Amino acid sequence: MNKCRLDRFVSNQTSLSRSEAIKEIKRGKVAVDNKTVKDPSFSIDTDTSFVTLSGEEIKYKKHIYLIMNKPSGVLTATRDKGVKTVIDLVPEKYRRKDLSPAGRLDKDTTGLLILTDDGAFVHNIISPKKMVPKVYEAELIKDINDEDVKAFFDGIVLSDGTTCLSATLKKAGDKKAKVKIYEGKYHQVKRMFAARGNKVLALKRVSIGLLKLPENLMPGDIKEVSFDDLLRKTINYKQK
Ligand code: URA
Repeated sequence: MNKCRLDRFVSNQTSLSRSEAIKEIKRGKVAVDNKTVKDPSFSIDTDTSFVTLSGEEIKYKKHIYLIMNKPSGVLTATRDKGVKTVIDLVPEKYRRKDLSPAGRLDKDTTGLLILTDDGAFVHNIISPKKMVPKVYEAELIKDINDEDVKAFFDGIVLSDGTTCLSATLKKAGDKKAKVKIYEGKYHQVKRMFAARGNKVLALKRVSIGLLKLPENLMPGDIKEVSFDDLLRKTINYKQK
C-alpha cells in the first residue's frame, strides 16, 4: 500500500505543476478506477489505483530514466531563455518536474546523454569517486602520435595546472581518436588535446560505462531505459 494524494500523483507523474493538476482534477479530467474524481485531496494507492488524465493512463513510476543522442547546438541545461535545451527535446510523455541531464556535454558536443528525475542517480554517476569511464570520439585538426598516447596515460596537465587522471587515447582513423576518461572536468577532452597542441573539431560521446549509444538512436532521439539496466551498465558495472 503506497498512499498518495491525487493532485500530487498527477503532478509528479506528468509535466503538470501542482496547481495545473488541481485545475485538471476540478475540471473532471481525472478518473480513478474508471470513476471521475474532482477532489484533489482524494487518496489513491500508487501500486494499485488506475488513474487516467483525459482518458490516458498515468502509469506510476517513481523515477524516469532516458537516454538521448544529443544533437549539436543544444544546451545541456534544464532551461535557457534563448537557446534550445536538451529538456526542450523531451516528448511530453516523458516530462517530469525534476528531469535533468546527468552530467554535461558542451553545446557543440553530440552523443550519449542520460536524463532522469532521480537526483541520487545523477549525483552518483557524475561523482569522480565512482570512476565510470566515458568514451568520446574526437575529430582533430591533426593526427595523434605515440607521445600523445603516453601523455594521456601519464595524466595530462591542463593549462590551469590541473592534472587529469590517466586516460586512454587510441587512433580511430585519419585525424580521429577515441579517448576514455574517468572524470568530467569542464571542457575536459578539448582541453586535454589543447594541452598537446591539438584541437578538437568535433566531439561525440559514444559510451558511459558499458552503456553504448545505440546505433539506431538518431540525433535528437530519446529512449526510455530501465533503472536496473542503467545501474548495471554504469554505476555498478564493475561489481560482480
Ligand atoms: N569534454 C569536452 O571537452 N566537452 C564535452 O562536451 C565533454 C567532454
